[in-house]
Amino acid sequence: MTKLTIPNDALCVADYQRLAKKCLPHPIFEYVYGGGGDEFTMQRNRDAFDKLAIWPRVLNDVTHGTTSTTVLGATWRTPMMLAPVAFQTMAHEQGEWATAEAASALEVGMMTSTLSSRSLESISKKITSPKWFQLYWQIDRTFNIALVRRAEKAGYSALVVTVDSAIHGIRNRAQRAGFVLPEGVEAVNLTDRPPLPSKAFTPDQSIVFQGMMSEAPTWEDITWLIQQTSLPVIIKGILHPSDALKAKAIGAKGVVISNHGGRTLDCVPSAIDVLPAIREQVGNDFVVLMDGGIQRGTDVFKALALGANAVLIGRPQLYALAVAGAVGVAHMLRILREELEVTMALAGTARVQDITTASLYYPH
Ligand SMILES: Cc1cc2nc3c(=O)[nH]c(=O)nc-3n(C[C@H](O)[C@H](O)[C@H](O)COP(=O)(O)O)c2cc1C
Repeated sequence: MTKLTIPNDALCVADYQRLAKKCLPHPIFEYVYGGGGDEFTMQRNRDAFDKLAIWPRVLNDVTHGTTSTTVLGATWRTPMMLAPVAFQTMAHEQGEWATAEAASALEVGMMTSTLSSRSLESISKKITSPKWFQLYWQIDRTFNIALVRRAEKAGYSALVVTVDSAIHGIRNRAQRAGFVLPEGVEAVNLTDRPPLPSKAFTPDQSIVFQGMMSEAPTWEDITWLIQQTSLPVIIKGILHPSDALKAKAIGAKGVVISNHGGRTLDCVPSAIDVLPAIREQVGNDFVVLMDGGIQRGTDVFKALALGANAVLIGRPQLYALAVAGAVGVAHMLRILREELEVTMALAGTARVQDITTASLYYPH
């Protein structure tokens, strides 16, 4: 196994992105980095954070300060979790195993993707922090249940159902770079999936509506799924307050506000922009997580101020994994935690619950 160390110039998340560009094959970097369409949403994810300002309070005693928080009844060391990210052996030979070790070392939770390149059971064994399983709906209901039962048996404590990517985005950047999954990288959790029924289309039918979307889940499917498991179900990929409310009404225990890192439909809002409206709609007792564009502890702080219980970290885990394996991911997570601590200390907020909308400044 290659021995990887932390480069001296890896000081923040953006450094890991810069360094990953040098060490990943070009098509893989472009696939990981890129978004859908013209990448307007991907850019908006960053712009929306940048335009928010933190309004610091001075001289508060923060010596009892802590980043710990409670999500779904569990104590988290930091209000952060690793987002589900597929095919991690693309970035490092250990893939999800290395990420799981890093998450555990930093006491950060991890969402294991359906499209992991390691088995969900073997990843679970390496996670000692909160672990949730992310489900991509499969057309065969029985196969969904088989995956859910495996996740339950493997000790995952929640199920995250991603609903925003029934069709992959139109990823021109990855296409231009000629991205294909490298040989040997595969969705090992789906190897015994029943073959998809072959379809013939008449000239007046569409491969989108009558093809791909005929395999996509509906509210009825997700309601059914929630009834099949004792695990709390979180719906990932919500942007509209009415959909968040609907998720709550069908029995979901939370939502992840997300545009998939700008990788699916382009021209949609950033998660941070819609967060206040969603929080207002679902009330304070419902779990609201968000992701998209988080690169700094100040970003985590801004999301908490606008009502998120915690945030998810997507691409940075693959960048750090590519640069320095498990050590890199652990280092990246420590950077984010320490940046959040610095932000909280200098903003005069000792505890996560002290961070509120009053912690942000809006110019008149
Ligand atoms: C390479 C890559 C693979 C991803 N795979 C999944 C996945 O398997 N399941 C899922 O729900 N989301 C997936 N996502 C989306 C992330 O979970 C997350 O929503 C997004 O990356 C957050 O934005 P950020 O990368 O700016 O932090 C993936 C994202 C990337 C970049």
